Amino acid sequence: MAATSEDISGGISEVNSKGSGSVAAAAAGQWLIGGELPVNRMGFGAMRLPAGRWEGPAHDPARGIEVLRRAVELGVNHIDTAAFYFFEDIAANDLIRKALHPYADELVIATKVGPGRLPDGSWLDPADPAELRAAVHRNLRELGRDHLDLVYLRFLTTDGPGGDRFATLAALRDEGLIRHLGVSSATPEQLAEAREIAPVAALQNRFSPLTREHAELVELCAAQDIAYVPYFPFGGAGAPDLDVLRRVADRHGATPAQVTLAWLLAVSPAMLAIPGTSSPAHLAENVAAAGLRLDAEDLAELAALVDTDG
Ligand SMILES: NC(=O)c1ccc[n+]([C@@H]2O[C@H](COP(=O)([O-])OP(=O)(O)OC[C@H]3O[C@@H](n4cnc5c(N)ncnc54)[C@H](OP(=O)(O)O)[C@@H]3O)[C@@H](O)[C@H]2O)c1
Repeated sequence: MAATSEDISGGISEVNSKGSGSVAAAAAGQWLIGGELPVNRMGFGAMRLPAGRWEGPAHDPARGIEVLRRAVELGVNHIDTAAFYFFEDIAANDLIRKALHPYADELVIATKVGPGRLPDGSWLDPADPAELRAAVHRNLRELGRDHLDLVYLRFLTTDGPGGDRFATLAALRDEGLIRHLGVSSATPEQLAEAREIAPVAALQNRFSPLTREHAELVELCAAQDIAYVPYFPFGGAGAPDLDVLRRVADRHGATPAQVTLAWLLAVSPAMLAIPGTSSPAHLAENVAAAGLRLDAEDLAELAALVDTDG
């Protein structure tokens, strides 16, 4: 197993109470992105800050800034964003810059480039190499950085091979504008093609207890020291409140959302959670899941759930 994963939980074995913010992100242990950038395995996804859905309504930007600052206070040092996370004039990148710039040295900000997105949420055609370069510079400008820590090439399901586009990002890495590369919403073939061109530090595909279609990629990533960063960790429609999650949660004095996140972290040492929320209370609850350790009985019960419903 990857030697880059290090458990630094220091013996924390449980969340303290439902929704507690007293357990910090570091309790989830660490991962070295690309073998060198340390992040706590409990991070944060910024997509839900401008609005809960592409079509709105808008969230209060002041609350987004509060959530981001609180996340960092709770030890989150891996924030996931994209220039296409916006609603009307509220953009996740702007909120991140307003909340956190100048950035702490240990903060890793990951972003995605690929297709453009229209305000209604629909995607434009995959970016060509010139458009990809422009997208990287847009992220640099919006975030107020001179380099980007981790940039994913984001595929659409209709995309074929993406070697030319990944090569463009590899060139930008060689120029010093990007530190590490990843792929997102990628097939095994697209991941393999990218790895022929340059090292891939992270894969960001969908994964949750109820959506495990990429289970083989999760295993492959762990074996190859590639971080697996699941999007839609709750499945994409809010935290599921299923009987089995609640039963396990009740045994630990936790919540179904916390059990969902703890399950993800238990699946693989290369799994880096980035749950998204616009709510300070949900943020504290989610980060506290970093300290929840599921036992064999819990995992067996949850396996029955995914075998039945997943
Ligand atoms: N690469 C890609 O294609 C892609 C696609 C989607 C997302 N992403 C990234 O992945 C991150 C995670 O995805 P996501 O945030 O969309 O995941 P999700 O599974 O859809 O979870 C977020 C939803 O759950 C709710 N929620 C969060 N914490 C909760 C809690 N403790 N209790 C109850 N409800 C809770 C949120 O609402 P509230 O705001 O009310 O808490 C929101 O509706 C995103 O932020 C983004 O950075 C990437």
